[in-house]
Amino acid sequence: MSYRFFVNGDPVEVEVPGMRRLLDVLREDLALTGTKEGCGEGECGACSVLLDGAVVDACLVPVCQVDGTNIRTVEGFGTEEQLNDLQAAFLETGGAQCGICTPGMLMAAEAFLATGGPPSDDAIREAIAGNLCRCTGYTKIVEAIAQAAARRRATGVHPD
Ligand code: FES
Ligand code: FES
Repeated sequence: MSYRFFVNGDPVEVEVPGMRRLLDVLREDLALTGTKEGCGEGECGACSVLLDGAVVDACLVPVCQVDGTNIRTVEGFGTEEQLNDLQAAFLETGGAQCGICTPGMLMAAEAFLATGGPPSDDAIREAIAGNLCRCTGYTKIVEAIAQAAARRRATGVHPD
């Protein structure tokens, strides 16, 4: 079967079995390896992407379910030369701790910021509750998201 959808604003078409995981389509068929695989079972959030703005675990989503949708991955954020505001905040605060969880954290954080919700520690921790860190902890990550939220509020600008 052939499926058409948008990834980071670009139209894509893939000819794959409908039950192929979105995670594999992104990483293997579309060479977008920014999205990481951790548990492969919907537990860790490493594979988080935005599906029409909502955070989903790409390891649990069959590609047939994304036909006609808009997918956003970490490649749709800034570039290495020009980080977006959230990536910059992660870098400045030390919130970018490891390569496995960071892309998923960024996606959950973006979904949270897009709601314009209160940038309190509790609200941020709840927003990233589906994204597990098994090593360094969440303090710097929460700080990064709070910083990005404060900047967006101060400037009223949504850089993306
Ligand atoms: S790899 Fe998808 S939730 Fe862990
Ligand atoms: S798992 Fe990535 S920083 Fe802890």
